Order: sequence, then C-alpha cells, then structure tokens
Amino acid sequence: MCGIVGYIGSNQAAPFLIEGLTKLEYRGYDSAGIAVLNDQIICVEKTVGRLAALEEKIEGKTPEGCIGIGHTRWATHGRPSDTNSHPHTDCHGDFAVVHNGIIENYMELKEDLISKGHVFKSETDTEVLPHLLEELYNGDFEASVREVLKRVEGSYAIVFMSKKDPDKLICTKQDNPLVIGLGDGENFVASDIPAIISRTRRTYIVNDGELAVVKKDSVWITNSLGEPVTKKVFEVNWNAEAAEKGGYEHFMLKEIHEQPKAVRDTLSSRINKDNSAVVLEELGWTEEYVNSFSKVFIVACGTAYHAGLVGKYYIERMARVPVEVDIASEFRYRQPIIDDNTLTIVVSQSGETIDTLAALKEAKRLGSKTLAVTNVVGSSIAREADQVIYTWAGPEIAVASTKAYTTQLIVMFLLGAYMAGLRGTVAPRRMKELLTMLRNIPAQISETLEDVEPIKVFAKKYGFNNDVFFIGRALDYEVALEGSLKLKEISYIHAEAYAAGELKHGTLALITQGVPVVALATQKSVYDKTLSNIKEVKARDAVVIGIAATGDTELEKYADHVIFVPRTDELLIPLLAVLPLQLLSYYTAITRGADVDKPRNLAKSVTVE
Ligand code: G6P
Repeated sequence: MCGIVGYIGSNQAAPFLIEGLTKLEYRGYDSAGIAVLNDQIICVEKTVGRLAALEEKIEGKTPEGCIGIGHTRWATHGRPSDTNSHPHTDCHGDFAVVHNGIIENYMELKEDLISKGHVFKSETDTEVLPHLLEELYNGDFEASVREVLKRVEGSYAIVFMSKKDPDKLICTKQDNPLVIGLGDGENFVASDIPAIISRTRRTYIVNDGELAVVKKDSVWITNSLGEPVTKKVFEVNWNAEAAEKGGYEHFMLKEIHEQPKAVRDTLSSRINKDNSAVVLEELGWTEEYVNSFSKVFIVACGTAYHAGLVGKYYIERMARVPVEVDIASEFRYRQPIIDDNTLTIVVSQSGETIDTLAALKEAKRLGSKTLAVTNVVGSSIAREADQVIYTWAGPEIAVASTKAYTTQLIVMFLLGAYMAGLRGTVAPRRMKELLTMLRNIPAQISETLEDVEPIKVFAKKYGFNNDVFFIGRALDYEVALEGSLKLKEISYIHAEAYAAGELKHGTLALITQGVPVVALATQKSVYDKTLSNIKEVKARDAVVIGIAATGDTELEKYADHVIFVPRTDELLIPLLAVLPLQLLSYYTAITRGADVDKPRNLAKSVTVE
C-alpha cells in the first residue's frame, strides 16, 4: 500500500524522507518519489522501482531544502512508471501533492480541468489534486485546500506543499491513516507510525475530515467546518516491529481488520450514483460481447480458487451464463474445451502464481478471451491477460489470505452484476436492491469484526481438537471450504469442508462425540435442508458451532453455540460469514502457539509448479 512522509524543520528534509519511506517498505510498493521545496522551487525526484533506485538517481544531487514530502506508490490507477509515481504537481510546479487512497470522481474532475487548459502528465487519479488546487487557489493556501476537498469524493490521506507558502505543509485524511510526529523545532507527517518512530514518539493521530497545518514549530488542526480541534498527544510505545503491524499482534489480524476499507476501496467508483448499475470502465463490454460467451471458466489456486467458486454462483445466478471453476494446476493438463466464445477468468492475489499464469497462457493458446482479477498492478498475470479488474485490497503480507479473498468476492459480484446488467437478466428493481445492500457491506464487515470475544473463547475451548469439520449448502459450502483451508493453513488442525447434504454419503462416519462441526446456515433458500443436516451431526453428539444471520432463532435450538453475522441478501452474506471463520482460525493458531503469519511449509506467492 502507498506510504506517505513529510518533513518541515531546520534540517534537510530529504534524508528523513528517504529514511521514513524505507521504514514503510515492508508494506510493498512499486515506485517512490520525493519533492523538496527550496528558494521558490519545488524539486521533484521520482522513479519506478525500489527506493534504492531513487537513492541512486539523486546521489550527488540530493534536493536541498527544509520542507518536503515523499511517497511510495502501490499502483491502482495507472501502471507503475516514473510519471505515475508521486509526488504530483500542477501545470506550473507551484504545488506538490502526495496521496494515498482513491479519488473516486477523478474522471469528471480531470475532464473539467483539461477543458480549462490544465495539462496532465500521468494516468493517476491523484494528479487532479494539484491541478484543482492550482485552479482554485485564491491566495490563501488553507482556504484553497478546503475548496479542493469540497470537490473531491473518495478515500484519501493527502499532503499538500506550496511554493507560495514555504513555511507549512497541509494534510488531511478520509478513511486512510495519517499521523503527525511532533519534534523539537521540526515536525513530521506520515501515513504510518513506523516512518517516524526513530525521530519522535509524540504524535497526533489525525481523524477523518480533519485538516492539519503543520509548521516547523506548530501544528494547527481543524475539523471539516474549520473549527479548531484539541488533540491529545499519543505517545507511541510500540517497538518498530509492532509499529509495522499497526499495533496488532500479527499481520493476519491487521489484514482481517483492514477488510472494511479494502472492500470499500474495491467497490469505490464501481457502482453508479443511484445504485442501479455496476460501472466497470476497465472492461467497456457491450451487450453483444457478453452475449457471445457460451461458457466462462474461472481458474485459480488456494483461496483465490475458493473466491472463484463463489464467483460461479454470482455469474450463474445473476448473468445466467454457465461457469466452470477449475484448480489452475488441473485445468492446464485436462484439455479443457475452449473456443473463442469462452471467457477464462483467472483470479490471483499476487498475480504471480505460476500454475495460474500457465493456465492463463493455455486458455489464451486455445483461443479463449481472458480476464484477470488480481491485486497487483503490472504483475505477470495482469500483463498476460486481455483485460484486468483490480482488487484494491492493498498489499497482503500474511501468508493466509483474508482481505484478498473478500475483495475478490466483491469483484466477482460486481462482474456478475455487470454481465447481468448487459444481458438484462436481473430485473432493475432487484439490481437496485442488491447494489444498495452491497454498498452497506463495508459497514457490516466493521460491525461483524467488533465482537471477537466469543470467538476467542471457542478457539481456546476447541483449539486442541485434532479434527474439525465445516458444513454448509450452496454459498455456505463455498465459504466452508475457505474456513477449513484457513484453519489448516495456520493452526495445522485437520479440517474438512463438506457440502452438508453430502456428509451422509461417507464422512458422517467420522462424526463422533465431541467432534467440532462448524455449521453455516446463512442461505435462506436451503435453510431447512441445512438444519436437517445439522440435526444429523448433532444426533452423533458433535459439538456444533453455528453461523447464522442475526434474527435467526431456529439454529440456536440445535447448535451448541451460534455466531451471528448481520443480515443481508444470501448472495452477499459470504462476505460476512467468512469473517468469524478467519477469526476462529487466527485465534486457534494463537491458542496452539503457531507462527500465524508464516505457517510451516507454505509461501505467500508460489512460483513453482
Ligand atoms: C499460496 C498462498 C495462498 C493463495 C494461493 C494463490 O498458496 O499461500 O494464500 O491463496 O497461493 O495465490 P494467488 O496469489 O494466486 O492468489
């Protein structure tokens, strides 16, 4: 994910900017840059690649000046390149800006600014910010920034620097972290605490909508109405390692809690204003093109494969196009029946999994149209596929995938609804209902993640069992598969997921007294059938932990414990039902003392067959 740093004081800015960005390297990035202000000139140095490349570029000619901003970029809008790297400037080099997040309405802002004569250099959403500031500048830096913010929609942490006001940085945030480090005669700005803790442990944590004017010996913070805000100094007592994890014990837990934002970002600008249609500008498909598909393959590995299984439901249920889901390492060698009316969708967080890449190449060789769903801009899979939809989850560091899965589900849902919109297979009223509920999912994810205490208790209670079963029907079954994989990966417990109706054809023999069974019962259309299967395992004295939607009063009668997730449409509830399973596997691994972020024998990105 992108990193931000800023400095203002009496020392040279560049050394801190580089040092601070180095401390954010662990978050992943594809390019880096700094802007330093001196003698009425903003000097920008930026390059694609590692920070080392930037250091090499500026060696012997490091920009001098005591005020500056820096950025490491994780590409979202526009590929990784020198020009797309931050900082970005306006037409005359009067303003420089670094930004994390997504400006949702950048296209309309950009068109308007171009019509007013502004010349854009990059493909980024961010570049609208300095141009907009240039357009609206009225001699008062702070007031002009406020005018810019009034016109911008989306999520962001932004730092503005102005040649005309060389004694201040202005920063603000919405749904992205931003912190101000308080020094002695100098102050720091950063997206994350690790960037500044070698310089100061005294910080202000900026809240959404607040705007800070940072000078070398003062910090003035106001709310969105311009009223002063009194901040408490937050003394950071984390060590460097804890700081990287944002205070969480593990990256996996941090990433689980990042899901509301990751999902919100992935949705951003992809649903139209009145929730009546999905907008996937990156595809630009026509009705004729979508109708040409006789079959869709979804091909992936691991967690991404499980997201593909949910994707099959979405595309079939909404767009009524037949879908087959394949494990990439199988697909490649099974001589799949493909022609130019086939669409092959590959799903991969990293975009580098060799099995998935090879399957993609095979599908292409056989004449299929191809589409990648990936989290990494410019990755091998993104480059190889005809078209790409990005999940905007930010880098995932823990081996066990969490936020990548939920954002992949979001993309699969958007794709299903997009295809359905073009094919006219979902009634407008139903589409609106679904998209309205989809918009509410990030808030419902936050709500679900609020109460982890009961899950901790189950993890302690059942954490030492050797076997755990997960059952469910329809989409609950696909989520059960992901829940069991999570548990296996990080706690090393033997876990199996079964279609609840299939259990009686063999596996029921393994259900004996005290065996934990996690039973998902969120799918309304098969609810009664699932309940019968739960009764079957209960009759064999299994311990049943049920997952149900709030308001369900039936399941409690048969399950030993029930974890409730907020109510939504049965198509969308996998986005919520998977959360307790992620947490259950996390806390079970903790109970067993396992190395959560780096489980034995597994790798984050598998580049061997
Ligand atoms: C590895 C990881 C899994 C991941 C799978 C596919 O096995 O441990 O978490 O789901 O690769 O990775 P991809 O990057 O293609 O989604």
